[in-house]
Amino acid sequence: MTEKRAQWGSNFGFIMAAAGSAVGLGNLWKFPYLAGKNGGGAFVLIYLLIVLFIGFTIMLGEMAIGRHTQLSSFNAYQKISKKWAFVGGLGVLAGFVILSFYSVVGGWVLNYMFKTVIGGIPADSAAYFGSFISNPILPIFWHLIFMAMTAVIVFKGIGGGIEKACKFMMPALFVILVIICIRSVTLPGAAAGIAFYLTPDFSKLTAGAVIAALGQVFFSLSLGMGCIITYGSYLGKEENLAKNSMIVPFLDTLVALLAGFAILPAVFAFGFEPGAGPGLMFVTLPQVFAQMPFGTFFGFIFFVLVLFAALTSSISLLEVTVAYMQDQHKWGRSKSVITLSGIMFLIGIPASLSMGVWGSFKILGKNFFDFLGFASDIMLPVGGLLMCIFIGYVWGIDKAIDEISNGGKLPFKLRGVFTIMIKYVAPVAVIAVFLNALGVF
Ligand code: TRP
Repeated sequence: MTEKRAQWGSNFGFIMAAAGSAVGLGNLWKFPYLAGKNGGGAFVLIYLLIVLFIGFTIMLGEMAIGRHTQLSSFNAYQKISKKWAFVGGLGVLAGFVILSFYSVVGGWVLNYMFKTVIGGIPADSAAYFGSFISNPILPIFWHLIFMAMTAVIVFKGIGGGIEKACKFMMPALFVILVIICIRSVTLPGAAAGIAFYLTPDFSKLTAGAVIAALGQVFFSLSLGMGCIITYGSYLGKEENLAKNSMIVPFLDTLVALLAGFAILPAVFAFGFEPGAGPGLMFVTLPQVFAQMPFGTFFGFIFFVLVLFAALTSSISLLEVTVAYMQDQHKWGRSKSVITLSGIMFLIGIPASLSMGVWGSFKILGKNFFDFLGFASDIMLPVGGLLMCIFIGYVWGIDKAIDEISNGGKLPFKLRGVFTIMIKYVAPVAVIAVFLNALGVF
């Protein structure tokens, strides 16, 4: 290719972009409802342990592969070992799967953002949510708008598009989140929610909950599909990977925890059930806002927050597939962005319709939307497992460490910890969780 490979403008820009990829609907929509369903504090504790022992390691591994090869996932694997290119290919496929349904939910967020201001969410928010998502046209319209916003940012490239957007949206998101947290925890009756969130109820911590936590760590940290490989490939050789791979999961986890504080105390304060599941954000929260002083304002900025989080994630998903077309097939950025976002928009249509008119069409007993989510829940840990094996036994720890340390010194004992984690702990943990899910033990 004649074009010079793009690079982030600064390390801060990379961190905002990578944290932007990580912080998304996974943190704001899924994490609080998973915690609500799986025993509050107990789930939070398990989640933190998995981030600590597996999340950091895989994040560092992905950054190392990307920065070393300066290529996006498929070509990165291929450059190191031809036989392993399929792992990168699996990641590109996962990008299609995830963004197709992610954009549908992004569209819901846009709808809620506008609806909060114009007319407000009807008092019977459950009925409203049900009729909105099963409507054959409206959610697809918003899905189109969300996908178009994603495409416009990615179209503008790494520095001028993704980095610039994240450098604005991520700090804004953080400020809005803190405002909403303060509002939520100071509501009368919030204490019960805080207690629920912080007190572990280990009786609720079933095998299913542990698997949910593992899947959530991969999804929330954008791991297991080459997203961080791709972002890492635009990173300069002088940057400190070890530090970056700690900051990004730290920020992601901080936002997930804050999202719990923003949502659960308010839910308790107004007497709702924390275990509402996926409807927590779209059904329960509008009712919470309706009862809160200045609820329209808080509701609106809340959905702006969610929109920013979703967009900084969706652009990273699109970028994985775009970078693949550029690196492997030498397509230009504009052609890649238009074609790929178009295809994902099309796959999203049946996903949206499967919540309404096409609801009876089932794969493995799931409607198409749930099936895409299920496929990503499997693909990400499998991708992460293969990556650990790849680094530990194919590429080799020494080469990975060389890349991580820039040929210089590593922080205290990192080498030993990284080796043990990537060769033994992370693979065994992922396999154990799978076997457990299959009922083997
Ligand atoms: N991490 C994002 C979230 O929490 C979603 C996401 C973006 C993602 N890029 C990814 C998930 C890559 C898996 C892999 O919403």
